[in-house]
Amino acid sequence: MSELGIFETIFSTRSLRRLKPDPVPDAMIHKILDAAIRAPSGGNNQNWRFLVVKSPEVKKQIQDVYLKGWRDVQGMYKSRKAPEHLGEERLGRILDAATYLAEHMNEVPVLLVACLKAPPMPADIAARLGRLSGSSIYPAVQNVLLSCRALGLGATLTTVASLYDEEMQAVLGLPKDVSTYALIPIGYPRGKFGPVQRMSVEEVTCVDRWGQAFTGK
Ligand SMILES: Cc1cc2nc3c(=O)[nH]c(=O)nc-3n(C[C@H](O)[C@H](O)[C@H](O)COP(=O)(O)O)c2cc1C
Repeated sequence: MSELGIFETIFSTRSLRRLKPDPVPDAMIHKILDAAIRAPSGGNNQNWRFLVVKSPEVKKQIQDVYLKGWRDVQGMYKSRKAPEHLGEERLGRILDAATYLAEHMNEVPVLLVACLKAPPMPADIAARLGRLSGSSIYPAVQNVLLSCRALGLGATLTTVASLYDEEMQAVLGLPKDVSTYALIPIGYPRGKFGPVQRMSVEEVTCVDRWGQAFTGK
């Protein structure tokens, strides 16, 4: 088990999309999921459901759906200017790595699919919750990413397969009220962990009102 501290883990957890095909023991996946389900969820509903996909046939079917979603967004990213904090070169590297992942998805040892079972609720509340629909699953997904890092496994939060959620539901045999929110390819990494580069706290934080600088100093 890892001896990494929590901040060291957070600061070095980056998307690792080039993964070795070597198998990942089920016990590690179990440990990762056991950490995932420690996450908070709205009303403590714990409506998350996970699928651990290892079958080559199912992986291939997921890859076909993923490739459709990836082609949809790839064009969008290529056609617009890179955000200033990234620049064209860094964005280009992300897109190359993402294309590699899409093309090698079937070789990844474990595809972890994070789903959410819709809780029964009045239609008007459901409509207002729309924008927040993922908030009861993504904390668990982040726990997955951090646990993978702690165990020396590479992983990436991906969502493009869920652009075709109905097809994912069919591939995985999901009931109608269970939707996919993230697909996390997990394997031993070819690349290195962190450090993770981001805009600074000052660039993204205000104090009390929008536009009032927070320095924390
Ligand atoms: C909501 C969300 C959706 C994402 N979807 C995808 C995806 O479909 N495919 C992919 O390769 N990466 C995906 N990513 C990963 C991001 O591209 C990545 O986190 C970002 O570029 C920062 O890179 P880093 O994690 O290596 O620091 C997604 C990340 C988030 C938070």
